Amino acid sequence: MSQTHIAIVVGSLRRESFNRQLANALPRLAPKDFSFKQLEIGDLPLYNQDDDAKQAPQVLRFKSEIKAAHGVLFVTPEYNRSVPGVLKNAIDHASRPYGQSAFGGKPAGVIGVSVGAIGTSIAQQHLRNILAYLDMPTLGQPEAFLQGKDGLFDASGDIGKDSKAFVQSWMDAYVAWVKRHATV
Ligand SMILES: Cc1cc2nc3c(=O)[nH]c(=O)nc-3n(C[C@H](O)[C@H](O)[C@H](O)COP(=O)(O)O)c2cc1C
Repeated sequence: MSQTHIAIVVGSLRRESFNRQLANALPRLAPKDFSFKQLEIGDLPLYNQDDDAKQAPQVLRFKSEIKAAHGVLFVTPEYNRSVPGVLKNAIDHASRPYGQSAFGGKPAGVIGVSVGAIGTSIAQQHLRNILAYLDMPTLGQPEAFLQGKDGLFDASGDIGKDSKAFVQSWMDAYVAWVKRHATV
């Protein structure tokens, strides 16, 4: 059976990040023919259009990892009612030079944890705008706005019992979405 590769981009660099924990837990809910790799974005330089003609090795690595994936999964917190700058920086890098974006056509999923009850909903809407421009078919339903509170993860790092069925339904929908839209 051929493998479907998913690149995970986490929008937080924080050591104890809830979103990183979510990114670690999500692959355990996917079928065996799906594999996941979390991409490093913390070492990317600040985007500068002057560098488009000679992108840094870290940028070329990030772009090639996106290009090699069948789909991209964004797991992000909300910062000041939008996406964190580190995530936007990574997206801008891989979208350039003009006409050489790594993202076009890749099926995307968007999910996130914040401490607020409606946390990540506005960040996700902003991200959806960006992904629409980048020509990425993005799973619309179910939306998944998770709250980072006690019990979200269990002692093994799996999704806790209260949220497990919902997050599983989200993953099932994302897997079906990627199967429908993947082109590489
Ligand atoms: C700069 C900054 C801005 C934030 N803005 C929001 C926000 O707009 N909405 C929200 O729900 N939480 C906001 N938070 C709180 C985050 O939800 C919280 O820090 C969360 O743990 C970040 O995700 P992480 O655990 O993956 O790092 C903000 C946190 C920071 C550091």
